[in-house]
Amino acid sequence: TRVLVIGGGQSAEHEVSLAGASGVAAALRETGFIVDEITIGRDGCWCSGDAALGESPALSLRGALEAMARADVVFPVLHGMNGEDGSLAALCNLAGVPVVGSGVRAGAIGMDKWATKLVAEAVGIRTARGVLVGSADIGDVEFESPVVVKPVAAGSSHGVTLVTDAGELQDALWLASRFDDRILIEEVVRGREIDVSVLREAGGVRWATPPLEIHAAAADGSALFDTAAKYDGSARFTTPADLTRRERTALTAAAVRMFDALGCAGVARIDFFLTEDGPVLNEVNTMPGMTAHSQVPRMFQAAGVGYGELAGRLVAAALA
Ligand code: DAL
Ligand code: MG
Repeated sequence: TRVLVIGGGQSAEHEVSLAGASGVAAALRETGFIVDEITIGRDGCWCSGDAALGESPALSLRGALEAMARADVVFPVLHGMNGEDGSLAALCNLAGVPVVGSGVRAGAIGMDKWATKLVAEAVGIRTARGVLVGSADIGDVEFESPVVVKPVAAGSSHGVTLVTDAGELQDALWLASRFDDRILIEEVVRGREIDVSVLREAGGVRWATPPLEIHAAAADGSALFDTAAKYDGSARFTTPADLTRRERTALTAAAVRMFDALGCAGVARIDFFLTEDGPVLNEVNTMPGMTAHSQVPRMFQAAGVGYGELAGRLVAAALA
């Protein structure tokens, strides 16, 4: 089986995508797949190795489509805009090539934190109370209580700020508006930060891994698992998370319900806060971080599924 692994992309998560893509490519090679790699530059031009395949995104797309045509399946390890948001799945659909992971709709809805919230509430999964603000209206927003300000569509917490006093609010809104013209303002949720992965196997069965707990750096528990903490190595994970049976069941059931409600495929990582009143959904990642040290491979390891095995099962599911 010939797999085309795609990494990079135009979102703020370019670097982590490259790391995930090269990890996945190496793991697939080790397990006997023929693997080609292609990347999308920050400027949107598709590249093979260091060489751009054309002078513009449109011109380079021709070479990218030729690479897709040679592949049995495309494995996009892309995060955020023009990758995880359904765009890459759409391109593969139009090209008639099977693609690993969620399709257009699940990618697009999962990328949109506001739409995800509406779906979650509709299927009985709690989310933080929040309001949506357009970037043109941010001057009218007033501070009432501590909130988290986030772009509706971004990843790795880029553009996210915990605002605890009125003086910080406008800067936080402006920062978020650099990533998206729709901004989500949410009440702060106090709870343990817990992730669950859900995999849909080739036969259509989907199952949830043991949950993982994130311990962001500050000992007083005030720290956000922000962009720096995600990548500076300061965060620690407990896998599997130390949970009661009841808590674990509530989290994994909510994760599977959310996966099904969005119609996800492949693997998704569903992020929660575990509060005294049970799980509160934070967000859904339809192409979660996939380096060997990322949360998803750790959770599968805890379920007895190694990194290469996970990559192979994702390919098999896309081909089924
Ligand atoms: N969006 C980042 C890559 C993650 O979900 O891990
Ligand atoms: Mg995310």
